[in-house]
Amino acid sequence: MASMLADWWQKKRAKPIPAHVTFFHCFGGLSLSLIILQVLTGVFMLFFYTPEPDKALYSIEAMSNDVTLGWLIRNLHRWCSTLLMATVFSHMIIVFFYKAFKSPRQFTWISGVFQLLAVFLLLVTGIMLPWDWRAYWSFAIWMDYIDTWFVIGEPLKNFFLSTFSLELLYYTHILVIPLLLAGFLYFHFKMVRKHGISEPL
Ligand code: HEM
Ligand code: HEM
Repeated sequence: MASMLADWWQKKRAKPIPAHVTFFHCFGGLSLSLIILQVLTGVFMLFFYTPEPDKALYSIEAMSNDVTLGWLIRNLHRWCSTLLMATVFSHMIIVFFYKAFKSPRQFTWISGVFQLLAVFLLLVTGIMLPWDWRAYWSFAIWMDYIDTWFVIGEPLKNFFLSTFSLELLYYTHILVIPLLLAGFLYFHFKMVRKHGISEPL
């Protein structure tokens, strides 16, 4: 096992980094690092969080106050989610500036758009999980906003209102969206490896 890992690491290290790669190419990797941090801190909180309206906030407060470093893990998850939005947006603007969305990297770009959407939805669903006043009002405001969408707005809002439960939201946040994101990321990295980092035009 150890030698297999060493071989894998050696193979990764043997890949040269192109000379034109600069600081600005760090933002994809930074986003990935933050996603890994979100997964680790998220998995930690799974052991303490209760997805029930009258228990959610107390369970998280209890974790923050009574569990060793619980406050740190919660705050890392909370603040790094905003930082992640900033790094993903920076990455998108930078690759746009390098015109890396052009053929043959159009599919890298398209998978990136889905990743942006997934990260955004993780933020939206995560904010509602503690089920405090911020969560309640963000849910209410989203419903009001969706209601304004042309044609599909009202049926969509009614669908969300009739099916909403904290438990469903919880599984969407910890399972459905992360799995979709993992699929897109796998494709994204395969594409980056296939086409290499774009040269400046
Ligand atoms: C979940 C967030 C994302 C992660 C973790 C991620 C990760 C990465 C990584 C590690 C690279 C290679 C290094 C680099 O250029 O930074 C890359 C390249 C690329 N990404 Fe992303 N990405 C994300 C979101 C996006 C978004 C939102 C877009 C655009 C809508 C995008 C489009 C691209 C393109 C076009 C490339 C190729 C760049 C080139 O060849 O120079 N990515 N991504
Ligand atoms: C890109 C990935 C993610 C983002 C942007 C994100 C974002 C958030 C946000 C903003 C909150 C609310 C935090 C608060 O108000 O205290 C939250 C809560 C939570 N998240 Fe995530 N999350 C991500 C991934 C995950 C994953 C992968 C898991 C589990 C496997 C997870 C588990 C949880 C749990 C259990 C809570 C409730 C605890 C709490 O409210 O503090 N998250 N998430």
